[in-house]
Amino acid sequence: MGRTEKHILGKENAFVIVDLLKKAYCDEMQIFHYFWYIGINMEGIGLVTYAPTLKIQATGELTHAELLSNRISELGEKAPSDPAVWKTQGNIGPLDPAQYLTLRAALEKGLEFESKAVENYNKIAKKALEVNDFVTYNLATTILAAEVKDEQHTEDVLMNLEVK
Ligand SMILES: [Fe+2]
Ligand SMILES: [Fe+2]
Repeated sequence: MGRTEKHILGKENAFVIVDLLKKAYCDEMQIFHYFWYIGINMEGIGLVTYAPTLKIQATGELTHAELLSNRISELGEKAPSDPAVWKTQGNIGPLDPAQYLTLRAALEKGLEFESKAVENYNKIAKKALEVNDFVTYNLATTILAAEVKDEQHTEDVLMNLEVK
């Protein structure tokens, strides 16, 4: 952590922020893999209609993970590198994308993740502001805006889905 930031934030606050960022990193990596896997292995009508969108969405989540990882490094730590840890330290828990390969199932589960992400980045932004960590605040609100967009998009598609 940079000297000045260390001084302003303090060790305890930095610890709290890093913990939240690590959890978010675990979530993003799991959600990335969820969308990526389904984008490749989707079954039925979704494969021709929605799979490409999911792959793009996946890379969006991967970018969020990268931004989080960069901030974690700035705060003197490393993002969780072991995929086994992503299931236990994040907010999502065990997740097997192969169980959501139809269009409706993929979207419904995806919506659940986007909604969780919106809640989570709201929480991080609030906490960051509380401890005067404006860099994390800025990061959290940037990702939050993307997650709000993701949620709205997924909601719109689900609402207008004609396939049962
Ligand atoms: Fe994300
Ligand atoms: Fe998202």
